[in-house]
Amino acid sequence: MVNIAVLGYGTVGSGVAEVINTNHDIVNKRAGQEINIKYVLDLRDFPGDPVTEILTHDFNDILNDEDVKVVVEVMGGVEPAYTFVKKCLLAGKSVVTSNKELVAAHGPELLEIAKDNNINFLFEASAGGGIPIVRPLNSSITADDITGISGILNGTTNYILTKMSNEGADYDTVLKQAQELGYAERNPEADVEGGDACRKIAILTSIAYGKHLDYSRVHTEGITSITSEDFLYAKKLGATIKLLGTTEKIDGRLYSFVAPMMLPKSSPLYGIDDVFNGILVHGNVVDDVMFYGRGAGKLPTASAVVSDVVDAVKHMGTNIMTIWDKEPLEMGDFNELTNRFFVRIPNGDGIKEKIEAVFGSVEFISIPEVTGELAFITDKITEAAFSTNKLKFEYVNNAIRVAF
Ligand code: HSE
Repeated sequence: MVNIAVLGYGTVGSGVAEVINTNHDIVNKRAGQEINIKYVLDLRDFPGDPVTEILTHDFNDILNDEDVKVVVEVMGGVEPAYTFVKKCLLAGKSVVTSNKELVAAHGPELLEIAKDNNINFLFEASAGGGIPIVRPLNSSITADDITGISGILNGTTNYILTKMSNEGADYDTVLKQAQELGYAERNPEADVEGGDACRKIAILTSIAYGKHLDYSRVHTEGITSITSEDFLYAKKLGATIKLLGTTEKIDGRLYSFVAPMMLPKSSPLYGIDDVFNGILVHGNVVDDVMFYGRGAGKLPTASAVVSDVVDAVKHMGTNIMTIWDKEPLEMGDFNELTNRFFVRIPNGDGIKEKIEAVFGSVEFISIPEVTGELAFITDKITEAAFSTNKLKFEYVNNAIRVAF
């Protein structure tokens, strides 16, 4: 029997206990021994919940118990998670986490401590929720030069955008539903402003290229400016709008960004709706590989966490090699990246001529539902040129990058 401890009894922590109980026999068989939750750490009490029997409020109970071999950190946030995780690793306990803030900020250091101590630091659930993506990047797609990763990496925003697109639903109501379903972060700004997807693409990129991509270097935009009018235009174009985290290798240089994109029907990511995430990886020899599944929620996330626990137990005494050096990953200048842009500008005298003078040849789009503005798609231009050109207009209703 192997004893584990769970730090945090929130949505994911209670899900971990549920998965281990529900799939007891299967999980134990795959781990090669019985997995027993000896402690759950939480500041709160849970009267009437069987967790009470193993609940502790003192982290030192876990740290100082030599019988605890694997610690599951599902508290979220950088602190105190970082301090607890580091102490556990230094004490020779493997750690499994779903915490993308922790992994994006301290992944290389924690991996190094795990390696030095012949234990494991595993974080499958930190990107893509229940979808296996970290392990495939680390141990399956290893023969390829990865030329691109593009993913719907945030369940909450995908849920919101899907409802806005299909039902014309209003933003605040849908965000509330996502929170009730346990998809949204405690502070949903991290979802809707793109910070969550930013950390996830930084983690995946670091694993794919073996060096550290600091998430603060990833250009990040969220979905708060997207309106129902944008979806009407998207429909006219046979497209939809998704929040994507993207890393592209162009002429040997890497570019990473998070932004809403208009996707055509032909994109494999077009039909990924609701809380589902999808990640498209392109390798120079394997070509396209697609990963799809639930990107958030109690049981799907707990599934990924428990699969890491199984791996940690199976590899007791052996470090699973994960290459993510502290050395910074060299990135191209985002301002030099080129994209096409869908733009909406209030109409007025001479605006059409001005648009053509500033942006050159553009494709105008009009829909009966929206008047008083001119909408168009630019040719491919650099991010720098687009930012400069935009400023030549008094007001821009919205601008969205176009992936076609
Ligand atoms: N808030 C996150 C999301 C949870 O919506 O994707 C899973 O990381």
